[in-house]
Amino acid sequence: MDVRIEGLSKSFGSNQVLKSLDMTFPERRFVTLLGPSGCGKTTLLRMIAGLERATAGAIYFGGNRVDHLSPGDRNIAMVFQSYALYPTMDVAQNIGYGLKVRGIPKADRAEKVGVVARVLEIGQLLARKPRALSGGQRQRVALGRAMVRKPDIFLMDEPLSNLDAKLRATMRGELKRFHLDLETTSIYVTHDQLEAMTMSDLVAVMDQGVVQQFATPEEVYDRPANLFVAGFIGSPPMNFAEAELGEAAGRPVLRIAGRALPVPPQFDLSGAPSRLTLGIRPQDVRLAAPEAPDAIPGTVWMTELIGSERLIEVEIAPRLRITAEVRSEIRAELNAPAAVAFDMAKLHLFDPGTGRALPRR
Ligand SMILES: Nc1ncnc2c1ncn2[C@@H]1O[C@H](COP(=O)(O)OP(=O)(O)O)[C@@H](O)[C@H]1O
Ligand SMILES: [Mg+2]
Repeated sequence: MDVRIEGLSKSFGSNQVLKSLDMTFPERRFVTLLGPSGCGKTTLLRMIAGLERATAGAIYFGGNRVDHLSPGDRNIAMVFQSYALYPTMDVAQNIGYGLKVRGIPKADRAEKVGVVARVLEIGQLLARKPRALSGGQRQRVALGRAMVRKPDIFLMDEPLSNLDAKLRATMRGELKRFHLDLETTSIYVTHDQLEAMTMSDLVAVMDQGVVQQFATPEEVYDRPANLFVAGFIGSPPMNFAEAELGEAAGRPVLRIAGRALPVPPQFDLSGAPSRLTLGIRPQDVRLAAPEAPDAIPGTVWMTELIGSERLIEVEIAPRLRITAEVRSEIRAELNAPAAVAFDMAKLHLFDPGTGRALPRR
């Protein structure tokens, strides 16, 4: 069942936290709402769940308007960051509780709980109380409780944020697997770009109550629609620098730090302002010999080993530093001369006035 929202707005008093959103969450897809804390992700999810009323706009499930329906009548399941389990009930009772209140007979319930417990590999824990479970096991019980009801729509609000890093990585895979098994439309909220990029079919990048870009993880990474998305997605963050659009030998060039770089042919410069913001990911910057034609010389400002890679920050103009992510064998000495070169096929260009990416041919 797909979920469509139309002109959806929400204000708390004078604080407008969602600004007329229009979007469709396609059937059976895993869609993530990704954005910084306070951008309105939870509010949007709670409105889809029916826990919060919209100030304006409409919500449709499979073409039917659901705004007037209470959460219990929407056939949704929701997993929160703090997955409150009933402390006095054992795991089986916790998972089966939603079925019990719906009057499903005991034998039927036991069978459904058994299937879900097997999928989540918690079959051996069914008789335990929540206090005797680890954080990861509790989270699985919370997921089981949501799964067992065969919801049309599965809503998750930062369900992994209370887990340690290793378990989070495991649970990312499990949640994705679970989504594929369940064949349910899933809407997932996180501020963690790694979760969003690894698990989602589609990512809605949000900022200040507005969806900045709604696209596949690849598109959001390779073709960020604006400066916000470009800066928010990717680690370490994209380098930005001001560049002047000019001409050399009849060809358009970008002037930066005293150099003239040819504008890559993929950009449509018609209507482009003369000052642009150039963006390049650290993964697309390399250290170059200073005499190379595309090299931008500078001095090493900082280096940092991050496992198999090393980050080398080169100052190419006063207070203008470019980070290169290179293999860890490559070393650079602080304050030594160094030059960077950009993989121009991976360059991003933005209009600094609007923040929007320049159109591509
Ligand atoms: N019940 C509420 N009353 C007043 N303001 C709220 C309420 N819930 C959320 N907000 C405000 O709405 C904004 C968005 O919050 P939220 O949806 O929780 O963001 P996110 O989940 O992206 O961190 C925040 O500024 C928050 O303070
Ligand atoms: Mg939230």
